[in-house]
Amino acid sequence: MTRPGLFLTFEGIDGSGKSSQARLLADHLRNLGHDVVLTREPGGSAGAEEIRSLVLEGDPDRWSAETEILLFTAARRDHLERTIEPALAAGKVVICDRFADSTRMYQGLSRGDLRGLVDQLHRLMIGREPDLTVLIDMDPETGLARAKGRQGTEERFEDFGLDLQQKMRAGFLTLADEFADRFRVIDGNRDMDSVARDVTDIVTQALR
Ligand code: TYD
Repeated sequence: MTRPGLFLTFEGIDGSGKSSQARLLADHLRNLGHDVVLTREPGGSAGAEEIRSLVLEGDPDRWSAETEILLFTAARRDHLERTIEPALAAGKVVICDRFADSTRMYQGLSRGDLRGLVDQLHRLMIGREPDLTVLIDMDPETGLARAKGRQGTEERFEDFGLDLQQKMRAGFLTLADEFADRFRVIDGNRDMDSVARDVTDIVTQALR
């Protein structure tokens, strides 16, 4: 008999610190003896990691929002089939850095209102929501400065600038109200340890 796993996601704007928090949570739960799979989107499976470089590198206008929805959803489907679903079926805790809520925001809001299209394709090809989503809320200017400070090659969305980050922040907070049953919002404008303590509290409750 396997118990059903737990599917946790982290969301937030670029530079919100969610990737570090996802890592800290994974370490914490492993220390408590949980079997944890820490993964990310776009990516998390071999095929999806290949799609990741297509969507995150290059000019901001490389893809239309519609094409991006297809690419992110293709990556997500592969990730779900090969990584997430097998782990949940084996009773593991899956912690995913971004999931479908990022597509609802970035592709659904960044260049006009395509939320309906995102949701339609999600229903058709993914059809699964996380059990719990932690939104790390962060001041857009601070977030963008942090993200830009990394000097990486995956900067397509950072290159859309501060306007996009502000829109994404407001959008995520609205989304948290829309899916209030699974969203928990944490103030990310604090030191990492304080944020991590809040994350641990929330997840510990969910695991009970
Ligand atoms: P991520 O690796 O989380 O970047 P960071 O660590 O800087 O927060 O995400 C990379 C980018 O991918 C981010 O700018 C948001 C974008 N993205 C989408 O536009 N749509 C999606 O569905 C996902 C999962 C990510």
